[in-house]
Amino acid sequence: MSEVRFDDRVAIVTGAGGGLGRAHALLLASRGAKVVVNDLGGARDGTGAGTAMSDKVVEEIRAAGGEATANYDGVDTVEGGESIVKTALDAYGKVDILINNAGILRDRAFHNLAPEDWDKVQAVHLRGAFCVTQPALRVMRQNSYGRIVFTTSAAGLFGNFGQTNYGSAKMGLVGLMNVIKIEGQKYSILANTVAPLAASRLTEDIMPPAALEKLVPELVSPIVAYLCSEECTETGSVWSAGGGYYGRVAMVEGKGVFVDPSAGVTIEQVRENWGKIKDMSGAEEFANANAEGMARIFPHLGG
Ligand code: NAI
Repeated sequence: MSEVRFDDRVAIVTGAGGGLGRAHALLLASRGAKVVVNDLGGARDGTGAGTAMSDKVVEEIRAAGGEATANYDGVDTVEGGESIVKTALDAYGKVDILINNAGILRDRAFHNLAPEDWDKVQAVHLRGAFCVTQPALRVMRQNSYGRIVFTTSAAGLFGNFGQTNYGSAKMGLVGLMNVIKIEGQKYSILANTVAPLAASRLTEDIMPPAALEKLVPELVSPIVAYLCSEECTETGSVWSAGGGYYGRVAMVEGKGVFVDPSAGVTIEQVRENWGKIKDMSGAEEFANANAEGMARIFPHLGG
């Protein structure tokens, strides 16, 4: 069986100073990628900063015979994003792979959530992905090659108490991917999103030790790396991974119902049709917004 390799590929992994990002960086480097190990080096709530976390991972990669360069910028500013990409260009001349992984938590029930805790979590996860992906994608377009992975969460895909700031930012990343998959296609830039579950400082106090022991970050990295490989042509999907489980998560739409609107539609007609409106049998995925409209709404408009 041939090995999946990343020789001559340049990868940026954000938030790679620990947890999942570290595991992704180590795996890519072990298969030949030159890796920019970005990490702000702060606390789990996004406060503080330091160089030790990135430096340590770079040392680990080099000790194992791989190539890596540290970057300490925050992903959540335009300057930070540009500097992260510049680190890759200065050290290795290009960017082939971007794994948007940096993240923080500031959990609070919505009614008690402070605006600054909404803003900071949105800034790191969603704005951070914008700030790093835009300059990286510009380089990828020039080279007509790119693999981008975003990191979402079950908290956004399905919901989790106390995580409105985090969950909404994580769903925002799915929307970002959905459009980048379309804009990147012509340039062989593929985008996917991973929803991981792993033991890290973000999850160490919310799951039992026995589960955490089995949820090592190294079990998420193989699917992330595969999505970053040249041979993988998937784009625009969400992949759930944790503890050895790997599966696809999708947004689907039921067949719905058409109610003749010529005399207007009443609330009661909606009520009468509720079973059909809600029914998910025959649900489908759509490649883009236009395909959804063409399949569900436009056929009923006539003309
Ligand atoms: P982690 O805390 O070990 O890793 C996140 C890293 O991002 C940290 O090293 C941190 O210093 C860095 N970081 C934070 N703000 C930054 C900024 N502004 N710029 C650059 N780096 C910054 O936690 P973990 O679990 O490895 O998280 C990685 C990603 O996976 C995050 O996006 C997280 O939301 C996501 N995730 C993790 C899950 C899990 O079960 N561990 C579940 C779902 C999603």
